[in-house]
Amino acid sequence: MHHGSPGKVVRPAHVPAHLVVDFDVYDPPGGTKDLHGAWRALHDGPDIVWAPYHGGHWIVTRAEDIDYLQRTHDPFSMKDVTMPSGTRPTRLLPLEADPPEHGPFRSIINPWFSPRRIASLENDVQELAGRLIDGFQPRGTCEFMSEFALQLPIAIFMRLTNLPMQDRERLLAYTQMTTRGTAAERGQAHHLMMDYLGPVIKARRADPGEDLLSGIVHAKVGGAPINDTDMMSVLLVILFGGLDTVASTLGFIAHFLAGSPGHRAQLRADPALIRSAVDEFMRRFSPSNTARTLTSDFSYKGVQFKKNEKIYVPPILAGMDERRYTDALAIDFCRADKTHSSFGAGPHRCPGAILAQLEIKLFLQEWLARIPDFHIKPGETPLFGTGQVNCVERLVLAWTV
Ligand code: HEM
Repeated sequence: MHHGSPGKVVRPAHVPAHLVVDFDVYDPPGGTKDLHGAWRALHDGPDIVWAPYHGGHWIVTRAEDIDYLQRTHDPFSMKDVTMPSGTRPTRLLPLEADPPEHGPFRSIINPWFSPRRIASLENDVQELAGRLIDGFQPRGTCEFMSEFALQLPIAIFMRLTNLPMQDRERLLAYTQMTTRGTAAERGQAHHLMMDYLGPVIKARRADPGEDLLSGIVHAKVGGAPINDTDMMSVLLVILFGGLDTVASTLGFIAHFLAGSPGHRAQLRADPALIRSAVDEFMRRFSPSNTARTLTSDFSYKGVQFKKNEKIYVPPILAGMDERRYTDALAIDFCRADKTHSSFGAGPHRCPGAILAQLEIKLFLQEWLARIPDFHIKPGETPLFGTGQVNCVERLVLAWTV
């Protein structure tokens, strides 16, 4: 997600000078080449820092504080998770509703992502992953993000919502315009998306099916039918929430495995390790960052937060916190501690976690069975992107056929 070149703001009087960092969370220094290294540099400084970009905001850098803020909506409201404040016309639901308003919106989603429902998708997802890989395997190379990592989650979204599979490139193009485009493209994408979804929503309203889209269209909030704005908001949060997050996690994993024959061999030799590998990769390569807004003045760890200030909560740093994990930067499939902050905590904990884990597991399983050894194509430099989601933009892989 790109937000243009932001101006710096002046440090307010209550922010001590030694807590100020020259760090743009949407464009950390050196981040396009080494995203995790760029973020980790913050661990050399104080636990809580203040950055002068995007209107000026705090960043919590340690796992214990990231976990605390994820669980504590009062005074750390989710009401506007982007920075600077008020840059979107409508709010995201259930993401940007605090309890108790949050509950009814969350209840619309939960049944569609239960372990049983997700397990029923397993054969489909497995087949789809296999088919995608078979499509480019004989070529000996692929651009991993566009040819695999984005294709898998968008296809699953089409399946969950029972939208025609042939429309998936179109919907994917709109979502990429929305997350990566200029302000004009984002506006245009919004209209294109509405033009596409409008007639479908009308049809499901008249003739509901057994799918997520029908479920949302016919949902009730506090006993009354959901209004059109909120309905679209829930639908788009599911679409966006499950796309770049999963794609980028797959990208980070593929990038890591391309450079680590030992880990590839370990997973091939003992496929039972794949389950713990999913947790370990999720910890280390956490893709999703969001902001909180203070609903009142609050003093925490000796720092004075003021009402309406923003705090950035980056789970990417929780996974790299040496205080929380021994040898935090290492990927260790046998690590005893499987817990992490990457799916959030508390009421907003990611409802798509089970689905995301399934996608990652099947990627590892189906990929390594077909392409056991691979590397970054010589001459190609992987490109990382930053923003609300820590992204892999481009990753060209190659293997011997
Ligand atoms: C690797 C993949 C994923 C990661 C890392 C991830 C991460 C997160 C996190 C951290 C939150 C909580 C927001 C916060 O505390 O800042 C969240 C919420 C959410 N995620 Fe995910 N997510 C992933 C995949 C998915 C998928 C596959 C879906 C659905 C298809 C999904 C749908 C949602 C929705 C709807 C919410 C809002 C929940 C609420 O506000 O109650 N996510 N996700």
